[in-house]
Amino acid sequence: MPDLLANTAGGDYQILIRKGALAKTGEIASGVCTGRRACVVSDENVWPLYGNTVQTSLEVAGFTVSNALVPAGEASKSMDKLMYLYECFNQAGINRADLIVALGGGVIGDLAGFAAATWLRGVPLVQIPTTLLAQVDSSIGGKTAIDLPFGKNLAGAFYQPQAVIMDPSVLLSLSRGQMADGMAEVIKYGLIRDDNLFEQIESKAYDLEWVLERCVRTKITVVSRDERDTGERMLLNFGHTIGHAIEKVTAFSRYTHGEAVAIGMVAAARVGEFLGETAPGTSKRIIKVLESYQLPVATDLSLDDILPAIASDKKNVGSRLYFVLIKETGQAYLKPMKKSELTDVLREVWQDA
Ligand SMILES: NC(=O)c1ccc[n+]([C@@H]2O[C@H](COP(=O)([O-])OP(=O)(O)OC[C@H]3O[C@@H](n4cnc5c(N)ncnc54)[C@H](O)[C@@H]3O)[C@@H](O)[C@H]2O)c1
Ligand SMILES: [Zn+2]
Repeated sequence: MPDLLANTAGGDYQILIRKGALAKTGEIASGVCTGRRACVVSDENVWPLYGNTVQTSLEVAGFTVSNALVPAGEASKSMDKLMYLYECFNQAGINRADLIVALGGGVIGDLAGFAAATWLRGVPLVQIPTTLLAQVDSSIGGKTAIDLPFGKNLAGAFYQPQAVIMDPSVLLSLSRGQMADGMAEVIKYGLIRDDNLFEQIESKAYDLEWVLERCVRTKITVVSRDERDTGERMLLNFGHTIGHAIEKVTAFSRYTHGEAVAIGMVAAARVGEFLGETAPGTSKRIIKVLESYQLPVATDLSLDDILPAIASDKKNVGSRLYFVLIKETGQAYLKPMKKSELTDVLREVWQDA
């Protein structure tokens, strides 16, 4: 598999997708920073599984390695843990020539990424995403953040890594539910841009390395054209307007992100079908593939429960919003809609859910 190169305003960086790539960490790290200290940020699930491989690889390449471990889970994307990372960096003497390595899922990528963006106003960062969601989504694009007591991802920075190392073999230790969670995003990439990917996922005849490459290619293409999330990047939000609303009104506890997005993608396809803009039968196809990964396709929440959360989505512009629709699988576009118009259509299609 050839390495991918992401071109961003913040610089180009290499994305290595390969079985066994974890053992290449030291070699890659040597090429992206001049210092010889590395601090690996990870969580208490991931470090015991993969910490040793990463640490040894860095040490063989001549790095002095320290680590900063936080408990697994969203609660670690906090001010508290950010402060803890700064303490670890300080203790290890991490300076601007040195390196921070984020080894873990999206929580670690976001937390360590924000810490790297802000420690000494920015030190080199290598992302080693270990969940499917982090590999196909959160490790690419440069968004980093922590949560605040009044909302998710409220303090953050756009900060590109120097390299991303993706080893498909680390996904073998994920639970079925964690795999399904990431699979919802994979299906989303198929639906917005990549019919071939969608068909492979439908037929279940795919090679994981190939799937990762296709998803990453779509994400870097979309993001490189729109690094600050204003236009084309919104296509990545397919299923997310409703998905985010569902997550919000259930206090991020009833559904995983992927599950909420799965429900949102079905609803978005139904909206498109109702408007005559999405090929008839598309929602049925989407339901079938989501169900084959045990992802939910509907919710018992009432539309009135989630409408206020849709209306307050931070991506709205006044009384309008951009809703992502698909013409057919692989072809997404932005449809500017009045909130009231979307509400009316959702009322028509919600009871089918
Ligand atoms: N920055 C972005 O663009 C972006 C995009 C999407 C999501 N996110 C963020 O990502 C986070 C969710 O990421 P996530 O779903 O990866 O969650 P996560 O990081 O909490 O990982 C899920 C669980 O899997 C465990 N785990 C990770 N890798 C493992 C492995 N290889 N084997 C066994 N267990 C493993 C973790 O310890 C954790 O318990 C959220 O905070 C979300 O806001 C960010
Ligand atoms: Zn998502």
